[in-house]
Amino acid sequence: MNESLQLLAPAKVNLWLRVLAREASGYHSLETAFAAVSLADRLEFVRREKPGVELVVSGDEDTGPIGSNLVYRAATAFLARMGGAAGVRINLEKVIPAAGGLGGGSSDAAATLRGLSALFSDPIPKEDLLRIAAGLGSDVPFFLAPSPLALGWSRGERLLSLPPLPVRPVLIAHPGVAVPTGEAFRRLAEMRGEGSGAGPQALDLSVLRSWASIAELATNDFEFPAFEQIPRLAAAKERLLAAGAEVALLAGSGASVFGIFADASGMEGVVAELEREGWRCWRARTLEHWPQPTARH
Ligand code: C5P
Repeated sequence: MNESLQLLAPAKVNLWLRVLAREASGYHSLETAFAAVSLADRLEFVRREKPGVELVVSGDEDTGPIGSNLVYRAATAFLARMGGAAGVRINLEKVIPAAGGLGGGSSDAAATLRGLSALFSDPIPKEDLLRIAAGLGSDVPFFLAPSPLALGWSRGERLLSLPPLPVRPVLIAHPGVAVPTGEAFRRLAEMRGEGSGAGPQALDLSVLRSWASIAELATNDFEFPAFEQIPRLAAAKERLLAAGAEVALLAGSGASVFGIFADASGMEGVVAELEREGWRCWRARTLEHWPQPTARH
């Protein structure tokens, strides 16, 4: 039995993201393809005698009050489902920019469910974990899916895992401005009026089998409001494409942008330009497998 474990919580990008109709709940139905990337937060789980959760957060990102942190909420839900007698201390080192459209908080929550499952020898059935995950946020279930590449629909919590594609270098750039998710949806709805953004489409499975065919579909409906609000996001996307990115998009609801490259040689010039203009850049790669928990050394 492990006393402590470490686990990386990777960021995600959406290779396409269509925002469909607004549901009666006020939430919008989505159609998306998620891909996990190697930029990751670091979590450590240590058993403790005292029941309950202790969370220690480090890193530059402002993650808000501990009680509303998704790691704290995920761990609290997990331990409650186990019966409430167990205790854990969690160290969370934030690396992924907060509110950047990269799913950092969601991934941390899912990594907490994965990590505690490993620490306590799988006390909770997978379906129940998925239910806890969906209750924490729409992007959380993806990070529990079998593969780090998946189609998602409804709010993103209904998933079809796909065979991973070959690993590709990814450049992630953040302009230092946060775009809260709710605001992005509101602006998109205002700009669109009543219509839904997506017309009929009949795709073949082959579109998901190569980066080149995914590149043809790559789109993100949030670019529409985000580029209007922050024009340098559109300029950054154009630069990524000009530098040879096969796919370049706004990440999720923003405000990060990312480029997936066939090889890393084109990346360095854009990194230098963007960093000169105050962007934060991370060199990452797409993932073929989820990170696994490791015992602490
Ligand atoms: O999921 P989260 O709580 O971050 O969402 C914040 C807000 O974004 C929601 O209150 C809702 O207004 C909007 N939203 C939406 N459709 C989604 C997800 C979020 O309209 N699928």
